[in-house]
Amino acid sequence: MAPLPRLGVGLGYRAPLRADILRHVKDLDFLEVIADAFFREEPMLRALRSMTPCVPHALALSVGSEVRLDYLERVARVVEVTDPPWFTDHLAFTQEGDVPIGHLAPVPHTEESLRVVVDNVRKVMRRIQRPFGLENITMPFYWPGSTLDEATFLQEVVKQTGCLLLLDLENVRVNAENHGRVARDFLDRLPLERVVQVHLAGGVHAEGLHHDTHSAPVSQETWDLLEYLCDVAPPAGVLIERDAGFPPFADLLGEVRHARSILEGAAA
Ligand SMILES: [Fe+2]
Repeated sequence: MAPLPRLGVGLGYRAPLRADILRHVKDLDFLEVIADAFFREEPMLRALRSMTPCVPHALALSVGSEVRLDYLERVARVVEVTDPPWFTDHLAFTQEGDVPIGHLAPVPHTEESLRVVVDNVRKVMRRIQRPFGLENITMPFYWPGSTLDEATFLQEVVKQTGCLLLLDLENVRVNAENHGRVARDFLDRLPLERVVQVHLAGGVHAEGLHHDTHSAPVSQETWDLLEYLCDVAPPAGVLIERDAGFPPFADLLGEVRHARSILEGAAA
């Protein structure tokens, strides 16, 4: 695979942030756009793309169950319009049969589930011939009967399909803390050279558990994981995700600058 362009540090485009993003687009190296939000908004997508690189992030390819062709075609269209260096979705399932389940559900870590994911990822990559990254999600639970651990499962998907990883470091932290593990041990077991992009976000702690709400500043623990990753394998893109509890935009720009200083520090 040819080396991917190093995009730098961007922000997740969200409608409530639109005016601020447009005003400060020069302070952001790229935008991540939720593909689903633009299926009927092509003019807006074209406008954003004319200003800055846009990386599509899809929500419902559902590689853990079955990729629906109509949805895949819609994602393909967003990729065509944005002409990105890569695009992404989650290692999850969001659909079972004809029933959308409305959120990202973890896949069982079994050989059977691995075959399903590998087949689906290949199907996506055959239709959309761009580098494709899968994001690690938060695991509210691990399926009983799993025969592989999460890191081995991710390694195998990458090895068997040639896909990339979108590494959500907040999700790594949340899973480690909720399940009594060490986040860096998990990172050490991933093929970090295949990480194309990173997600950074902040969540809340409630009723004894961490939740990935994207509603708070990035925590120091998650910044530390970014430094750790950048020392080993600096990713081509780093993204700040904020979906709720929007602070003054200057705070988000501060997080973008902080991420940039870590990324550039690693490159120096
Ligand atoms: Fe994420």
